[in-house]
Amino acid sequence: MIEEFNNEIGKIESLQELQDLRVKYLGKKGLLTQQLKALGKLAPEERKQAGQSINRDKKQMLAIIDDAKTRLEQKAINAKLAAERVDVSLPAYKLSTGGLHLITKTINKLEDVFRSMGYDVVMGPELEDEFHNFDALNTPKWHPARDLQDTFWTTDGRVLRTHTSPMQVRYMETHKPPFKVVVPGKVFRNEAVDATHEAQFHQLEALVVAERITMADLKGAITEMASALLGKDTKTRLQPSYFPFVEPGAEFAIWWKSPKTGKEEWLELGGCGLVHPNVMKAVGYEGVTGFAFGFGIERLAMVSYGIPDVRYFYQGDMRVLRQFRGEL
Ligand code: DAH
Repeated sequence: MIEEFNNEIGKIESLQELQDLRVKYLGKKGLLTQQLKALGKLAPEERKQAGQSINRDKKQMLAIIDDAKTRLEQKAINAKLAAERVDVSLPAYKLSTGGLHLITKTINKLEDVFRSMGYDVVMGPELEDEFHNFDALNTPKWHPARDLQDTFWTTDGRVLRTHTSPMQVRYMETHKPPFKVVVPGKVFRNEAVDATHEAQFHQLEALVVAERITMADLKGAITEMASALLGKDTKTRLQPSYFPFVEPGAEFAIWWKSPKTGKEEWLELGGCGLVHPNVMKAVGYEGVTGFAFGFGIERLAMVSYGIPDVRYFYQGDMRVLRQFRGEL
């Protein structure tokens, strides 16, 4: 029987087959077990010898099975290792990473500049009421800035803010001067969309109120901002203009070298002025003056990054966005 067993075990390839073989010989009804059971039928003198021989076979089988088990287990491990082998010399998968949007980067840069000048950064609501967006900013019902074409009104008479200036009023209502704040955020205009106009864009508003704030402080702040953005001693210019909530009012521009044309030119950025007395009255301020300015962030981002069309910012076109992924 042991020869037969040896013969069979030589052909075995798997642990399952080994288990089957063990059962076949040594299981409850196994061939060897049957021989053991049959011992009782033998004459006593035969029984002793046969018993010894069977037990020897059994021991031998158990040892062989043990060996085979070790061999087969090792074989299974080797097969698994081979199958799961990693070729560390293969190129890695590319992990796509996102990047900050150009508008976000521009806002971050502006916030840094103003924080370094001691300003607080505050946010206001995008859904505004008529009072904060218009009336309190000295823009009564008849004012052309309220043109139905320009303003998104909600059915309950509120507005998507048309500028960040309403936060001037909200901030003054809840704070006492002196203070310096900037307000970045989204604004909305019901405009025909073209290369330089979007129905939604971003502005940055600045407001400084204290005793005896003058136009000189305003000019200084704008020049500081321009220098921080574009380099020391960047020139700035104020030209008289009109905005209902400032008096005097002005437009401001910075002198810079356009990366696109390589030429130095004035870049018209936004509006500014000294806070109008009617605005001070609307928030109950007395004995203080202040300056404010506001400008479009898209315009600054377009000229700084050489983006020719404002619509590129919001189309989510990866070919555009990828170009600026790593840029600061
Ligand atoms: N809110 C104005 C606009 O959207 C821009 C502006 C002009 C803001 C003059 C100001 C300012 O703070 O003083 O066109």
